[in-house]
Amino acid sequence: MTTTASGRPRIILDCDPGVDDAMAMIAAARWADLVAITTVAGNVPLKHTTANACRLRELLDLDVEVHAGADQPLIGLQGFARHVHGETGLGDVALPEPKRGPDSDRAVEFLVEATRAEEGLHLVPVGPLTNVALALRADPGLANRVASLTLMGGSAQGVGNVTAAAEFNVWADPEAADEVFRSGAPLTMLGLNLTHQVRMGQVHADECRALDTPVAEAMAGLLEFYAVFHLAAEEVADGPIHDPCAVLAVTHPDLFQMEDRPVHVELSGTQTRGMTLVDERGPQADTPTNCRVAYSVASGAVIDLIMQAVREA
Ligand code: BDR
Ligand code: CA
Repeated sequence: MTTTASGRPRIILDCDPGVDDAMAMIAAARWADLVAITTVAGNVPLKHTTANACRLRELLDLDVEVHAGADQPLIGLQGFARHVHGETGLGDVALPEPKRGPDSDRAVEFLVEATRAEEGLHLVPVGPLTNVALALRADPGLANRVASLTLMGGSAQGVGNVTAAAEFNVWADPEAADEVFRSGAPLTMLGLNLTHQVRMGQVHADECRALDTPVAEAMAGLLEFYAVFHLAAEEVADGPIHDPCAVLAVTHPDLFQMEDRPVHVELSGTQTRGMTLVDERGPQADTPTNCRVAYSVASGAVIDLIMQAVREA
């Protein structure tokens, strides 16, 4: 596994910013050694996810490459989540136009080349899995070169958000997710069953506003936008902080409790397309485990790490 002298794991963040993707970038900037960012269409179209990644790179003063990837799922039409993340993906947080644009539109090739150049990177997808599936198609050996493929997506225990059964990132490209779950890569899944345990809202936004820094201001705006949506959708004002969980599961694995499970992606169910079916019995003779599934988390400690990342940005 590759770490820096500081001991921070080296990660590539594959994302679709996205309110909570932006928070994942903030967490990664502080707690990981961020190697690069790749973008995918998901919460909003690719042109917005890529522009947002570039805006956040400048906000966080990161010297990393941003590579744009897939602008549509492997099959079918793209479904967005503008109602959760706003028309252009960062709620109503208006960051300046970035001075530096994306370094390429070849995220898939970048993933193959970067993992060839350096074994033991952690690949952390927090959007639809299209880029990762295409990279695995181009070079299946990628599965053996990464230290982990730690993703936010799916769910154990039958929790969905887009449908009763399906979580957004898997629902948005089920065929890609299926290929990733069958790839043999060392997978860890942070699904909705886990991320719904980590909630932030107005109290944290107020703390951020008091800090009065550009990153803290942005974080406050993201939290407030997210809270309005979740209050309307779930009657709970504190929103689930999905994507930072995947970053922090790599950087602070001791905070998460995991179990090895066989996980299968439903492609054809009449009500269940895009569901991750987790075999809670554990490995079976005909279905060995293919994934570590996160079940519980020290949520207070995770929130503290996110807030510390905001304070120290
Ligand atoms: C996931 O879907 C997206 O809307 C979020 O950014 C997160 O990655 C949660 O289901
Ligand atoms: Ca996301």
